[in-house]
Amino acid sequence: MPRKIIIDTDPGQDDAVAILLALASPELEVLSLTAVAGNVPLVLTERNARQIVELAGKTTPVYAGRSAPLQRKLVTAEHVHGKTGLDGIPLPAPRLPLQPQDAVDHLVDTLRSHPPGTITLCPLGPLTNIAAAFLAAPDIIPRVAEIVLMGGAYFEVGNITPAAEFNIYVDPEAAQIIFRSGVPLVVMPLDVTHKALTSRDWVEEMRALGTPVGQAVASWTDFFERYDTAKYGSAGAPLHDPCVIAYLLEPSLFTGRHINVEIETGSDLTLGMTVADWWRVTDREPNAMFIGGVDRNGFYRLLTERLGRL
Ligand code: RIB
Ligand code: CA
Repeated sequence: MPRKIIIDTDPGQDDAVAILLALASPELEVLSLTAVAGNVPLVLTERNARQIVELAGKTTPVYAGRSAPLQRKLVTAEHVHGKTGLDGIPLPAPRLPLQPQDAVDHLVDTLRSHPPGTITLCPLGPLTNIAAAFLAAPDIIPRVAEIVLMGGAYFEVGNITPAAEFNIYVDPEAAQIIFRSGVPLVVMPLDVTHKALTSRDWVEEMRALGTPVGQAVASWTDFFERYDTAKYGSAGAPLHDPCVIAYLLEPSLFTGRHINVEIETGSDLTLGMTVADWWRVTDREPNAMFIGGVDRNGFYRLLTERLGRL
């Protein structure tokens, strides 16, 4: 029985690879994609999501959600992802229509209409849509089986500020709602995604697939690698969001600890920091499986095998 998931996303080249990995994997049933403002504005993230679904040759429904954080102005990341959010390769304008229903209403309706504990939420961007759904309909919170998200950082510290990772920083109030919701959480922070670095060999493997998907993934990687390699001096770039989907497919690739993680929402200096009690120095209740390690080669082997199916 495939695992039912909804991917909440702000594509973003790494979101795109995560979505393709999910759509290529029969163990998962992607009920829908819900787009959120993040890397680029919503008008682009929803369009990008539809382009990615079409690139995979699927018709997975795409919904548009919130265009701004719950309480703050939107912060975007064109400097990383380019002005379209999917720079690296031109894709045809999407023919797949955007669903008319608002993504937040779709999340509420879908969680209410499926048996409790049967849907996993996979947020790959700021947590605004999911927090908005929880605020609008608290009855859906206990119905969520699990949330597996990309966000946060502890040992790796921040990427958008010295203290905060982008997805959490954009909407820290939304993140606080999710981390205090009581829903079982698996968190893929920069601590692990910065160990899932691309390589020239892998990019060439993607190009050698000789498919539109392989070409797109190679071109996206060529584009967004330039930012991280310049910033960190690393040989490759972190494929953040695919870690979420790879965890669903092969959790044994990852290691982590079930600990308490709180979100800073008050201080300007450390806004959006995920304060992870990795050393258990407080008596705060553990609320998240905080992932710190990955079998990098196993991760890329899985990616290559699955993307080769599209
Ligand atoms: O900090 C990395 C995260 O921010 C990734 O999800 C990337 O797509 C951006 O959303
Ligand atoms: Ca993302």
